[in-house]
Amino acid sequence: MIHASAPGKAILLGEHSVVYRGPAIVLAIDLRAHIWAEERGGDGIWIEAPDIGASGHFDSSGRYHPIRGGSERWRSLNPIRVVALEAMRRLEAARGLRIRVESEIPPAEGLGSSAAISVATAAAVGRLLSGENLPKEMVCEIAYEGERIVHGTPSGIDNHVSTYGGALRYERGKGFERFKVEELPLIIGDSGRRRSTGGLVAKVRRLWERHREVVDAIIDAIAQLSEEGYKALREGNLKRLGELMDIDHGLLSALGVSTPELDRMVYAARSAGALGAKLTGAGGGGCIIALVEQPDRGRVAEAIRRVGGRPLRAGFTDIGVEVEEI
Ligand code: PMV
Repeated sequence: MIHASAPGKAILLGEHSVVYRGPAIVLAIDLRAHIWAEERGGDGIWIEAPDIGASGHFDSSGRYHPIRGGSERWRSLNPIRVVALEAMRRLEAARGLRIRVESEIPPAEGLGSSAAISVATAAAVGRLLSGENLPKEMVCEIAYEGERIVHGTPSGIDNHVSTYGGALRYERGKGFERFKVEELPLIIGDSGRRRSTGGLVAKVRRLWERHREVVDAIIDAIAQLSEEGYKALREGNLKRLGELMDIDHGLLSALGVSTPELDRMVYAARSAGALGAKLTGAGGGGCIIALVEQPDRGRVAEAIRRVGGRPLRAGFTDIGVEVEEI
């Protein structure tokens, strides 16, 4: 049997503006999705997802036969099937498969849960079929097919950072750049509220249509501060980075994507000593990210808890997808 795991992600700076212009700075975090894959006699793909109480069989015509959970669960499991089929297509090896998925990453909260599952699936099925680890580039491309099912035509940020780990700068038209980060002490605060990235991107678009010049100025400001934050991060200037995160949260609020829960966590984290705090990802729910030095970590985590959030033990990680035979 093959086991593969891949990390989630958090956007440090540049969400929403990156849809228009300027960079996004994205970090892999050490919450991981796990996939176990093995061959199984018969035809099609059996998928088990105990986290959501679902398991079922996709036959070779793509029909879903539930074993546990209702038939509507096919929608959650289908990206895994699509990624496994894409691996089979590329490797010209069709097999019956059994795949089990478990994830530490809260779904639909902007932490890259679907991408991590797709990346781990691509890596596990690729190794199972070919007997060796696929090149990361290929894992990333195969995983993108799963992301397309979930998100339409996403930028590819999530599957990139999940495959390679570490820190990534992405800008439309310029592509991806991995860069080195020495130290980045983070705390993530989870509101527990799921949301849809597409809905929030559309909300910002509608605001832009009504107030083009004003919204363009906000987007320009976020693009500028993301650029400066990228420099501050590379120089290890955490104080400056924290200030830029605070400004970014204000601008994202101005775009209408913050919520009272996110604001409460952001202000609680700052009052408890965070160098900076902001919502991360599309907003509307999901999570905040706070930059917190060691001596203040306990206090900030407690402050997030006091306002109803859940501090996640998830730091920055350099470790991307990993595969082992067990
Ligand atoms: O899916 P999330 O929450 O990580 O948000 C993605 C970032 C956005 O800029 C809001 C959308 C995008 O496609 O870049």
